[in-house]
Amino acid sequence: MKNIYDVCVIGGAGHVGAPLAIVLADRGMRVLICDINESAISSLSQGQMPYLEEGGEIMLKKALAEKKLGFTTRLQDIENVPVLILTIGTPIDEFHNPVFSMLTRCVDSMIPFLSDDQTIILRSTVAPGATEFLERYLKAKNRNTRLAFCPERVVQGRAITEIQTLPQIISGTTPEAVRISGSLFRQIAPEVVEATPREAEFAKLICNTYRYIQFAATNQLYMMVESAGLNYNELLHKIKKGYPRMESLSGPGFAAGPCLMKDTMQLFAFEKQNFILGQVAMTINEGLPNFLVNRLSKKHDLSRKTIGILGMAFKAESDDIRDSLSYKLGKILRFAGAKVLCSDEYVKNPDFVSKEDLVKQADIIIIGVPHKAYESVHFPAGTEVVDMWEIADLKKYEQQ
Ligand SMILES: NC(=O)c1ccc[n+]([C@@H]2O[C@H](COP(=O)([O-])OP(=O)(O)OC[C@H]3O[C@@H](n4cnc5c(N)ncnc54)[C@H](O)[C@@H]3O)[C@@H](O)[C@H]2O)c1
Repeated sequence: MKNIYDVCVIGGAGHVGAPLAIVLADRGMRVLICDINESAISSLSQGQMPYLEEGGEIMLKKALAEKKLGFTTRLQDIENVPVLILTIGTPIDEFHNPVFSMLTRCVDSMIPFLSDDQTIILRSTVAPGATEFLERYLKAKNRNTRLAFCPERVVQGRAITEIQTLPQIISGTTPEAVRISGSLFRQIAPEVVEATPREAEFAKLICNTYRYIQFAATNQLYMMVESAGLNYNELLHKIKKGYPRMESLSGPGFAAGPCLMKDTMQLFAFEKQNFILGQVAMTINEGLPNFLVNRLSKKHDLSRKTIGILGMAFKAESDDIRDSLSYKLGKILRFAGAKVLCSDEYVKNPDFVSKEDLVKQADIIIIGVPHKAYESVHFPAGTEVVDMWEIADLKKYEQQ
């Protein structure tokens, strides 16, 4: 089959794939977006991002106008496309073990259309050793397709900017795979850092795991200090004042989403379940909603309360609810008998109420995620507001 594309991004309608495909197209490459999600493909092909991504829509529309983007839901269209970038999900199972079957199933469907002239760039986050595993897997199916692993390290929602401003780690199982992936990423990233596949796999997982552990550190201290009857955020201001050594200690909050815990658990599984620091970080971060509910239940009979959760996305200024701890919080509150109202600025759900209605109806409000819009919400004087993020200016209501 005749091919007109330089690159195909498989999983290209996802959170990682779409921004990358759009930036590659912006650099002049002809990019085929391949994804099984028909509605996301249809939305992209009409110039609409399927989710929030800063600067995504403008660049997408430009790439469409320049006819640099093509779309498909059929893997057979990857035939003869020289570079195939894989950005599909790499989840963990209920035992916190990486699930390889999504990758192998996808590769199995690609096999009939793969040749030795193509290069697969694995960009999904994978466990240490996964690139070597995939190389062996391909060879066992009589494919010598070149294989590179070039991890994505951007922050979701700001990918368009960060892909073009952060260094890109590249690695491959052969010098030719390294050369080809390097020459592709040199066109979009300011710097390319070469590593072995094993180093690159660890590098990506360490970036997310370290962040997850940092959040756990502050969350654990928050729970300890608040249980002792002090205000942790006020204490943080005092600790940090004129003391730069503590600047990196972040404030408390839900550390959630599809990557931080999953990637920490990939290292946990790799270390044969002996990665204690990662395990403890998960226990602390995932325990924060329980801490909030326990504390409230000591003061109130929750079965008589209406509790509003303001912010259901997993992080601020995002519409992504994947693994959001606000949902876990809602579940624990309902289990305690409370009536729960949910609201979000960006997440669309017919069961949600507006932030105005939530503020009117709730006896207690918990800010689940610090969307900027909550800075200006007016909370009635009698309403108890739980604001770990310190986003709402609650002091201004104290005198009212
Ligand atoms: N979201 C992030 O900020 C982020 C950042 C860095 C790395 N990662 C990693 O990138 C990978 C993808 O994450 P994501 O957040 O983009 O997930 P996502 O679910 O948003 O995107 C994955 C896409 O792959 C598609 N897909 C699944 N199987 C397919 C198949 N067989 N053929 C074609 N398309 C298929 C899905 O329809 C989906 O659109 C994961 O490994 C993740 O850990 C994510």
